[in-house]
Amino acid sequence: MIRVLFVCLGNICRSPMAEGLCRDEALRRGLDEGEEGRILIDSAGTGGWHLGAPPDPRAVKVAGRHGVDIRSLKARKVAVEDFDHFHFILAMDGDNLQALQAICPEDRQDRLHLLMQFAENCGFREIPDPYHIMDEAGFERIFFAIKDGIVAFLDHLEQSGALAREHCC
Ligand code: 4NP
Repeated sequence: MIRVLFVCLGNICRSPMAEGLCRDEALRRGLDEGEEGRILIDSAGTGGWHLGAPPDPRAVKVAGRHGVDIRSLKARKVAVEDFDHFHFILAMDGDNLQALQAICPEDRQDRLHLLMQFAENCGFREIPDPYHIMDEAGFERIFFAIKDGIVAFLDHLEQSGALAREHCC
């Protein structure tokens, strides 16, 4: 099984949308998701201001409009154990990638990536922080950019054979 963690700043806008989108896309591809499945998907924030909070209403509304239900998710902060547990830790932007690099053990740095590295031709190099500036239309744009990233990432997992291999830790 492969364990994947999506990371943004607050874990209430971008990474919950990524978690919901990835879960839906994995199921659509026939990949069991969860503790006993082929893939495990989670999200977290590098900041801790919203611990335990549900996703931002704008994210809930936009995701729900496109069939992705993220209402039950709860914000949490990245923990050091995550670097051992998750095989792919995908940051939404460069600031969050740097924040992860600063706290990740040396021998786990290769688990850190930008989500959009997997979707190089879609026009977004990173997913910008939407919290203070974006209205619903802005959330809609980043929802579809994240979706492009997720589709490309799952294509990568399938094509590289990573899902077929056993990952021991
Ligand atoms: P996210 O957005 O990182 O996509 O969840 C943010 C949410 C909250 C804050 C910043 C970004 N904040 O400053 O509280």
